[in-house]
Amino acid sequence: MKKLIAGNWKMNGSLQANAALMYALLLDASDWACDVAVCVPPTYLSQVQGLVHGSRLDLGAQDVSEHEAGAFTGEVSAGMLKDFGVRYCIVGHSERRHYHQESDATVALKAQRALAAGITPIVCVGETLAQREAGLTEEVVKRQLAAVVHTNGHCISEIVLAYEPVWAIGTGKTASPQEAQQVHHVLRTQLQAASQHADRVRILYGGSMNASNAAALLAQPDIDGGLIGGAALKAPDFLSIVAAAR
Ligand code: 13P
Repeated sequence: MKKLIAGNWKMNGSLQANAALMYALLLDASDWACDVAVCVPPTYLSQVQGLVHGSRLDLGAQDVSEHEAGAFTGEVSAGMLKDFGVRYCIVGHSERRHYHQESDATVALKAQRALAAGITPIVCVGETLAQREAGLTEEVVKRQLAAVVHTNGHCISEIVLAYEPVWAIGTGKTASPQEAQQVHHVLRTQLQAASQHADRVRILYGGSMNASNAAALLAQPDIDGGLIGGAALKAPDFLSIVAAAR
């Protein structure tokens, strides 16, 4: 299966910085063996849509409203994202779950909205350090995925899943390739029970993935790509991860 490397810019960027980063990424695009996307803040969708037009880079968003339209001040709908050529949308990132109290049910609805608009949701799951230390990792990620499976039924094979252990995000601490593979395998098995097309779901790893640890993580049988935070903001770092995804 073709791997996917997606950058999550989080709340970073400016018109000027984005243009420079995109220029450097696009210069390299002819060498890519995997799919590549950048998930940008909503204010920059229009700018980055223009820059990726006709290229191999896909555009992504970082969140979507669980509602279709209406009186939801500040929210952005899946239809609006689609208007700007968005191909992927992260849902349920741990920062949204933590700072915005997004529940498993809300995340599942967001995935449903994205799918209905023809956008591939990148559904994030992952345990906190306390949950890992309490031996709850599998239980937590299974519960998070179960909500998305429950709401999305047979469409589940259309999602991208991302395992992002919260303790590895922005900390420089990565799950070892074996630790990550173990959880990816649990998630794969759960998907297989829900859909006969589960083997085509890409399961990305996210959490301090960088130029030096990417190859070992991506060599694991159930790791089908990466969701990259900090290292996605520097073209050479992001491009070395892309180069490791063959
Ligand atoms: P870092 O790569 O900065 O750890 O962030 C990972 C992440 O949260 C991607 O969504």
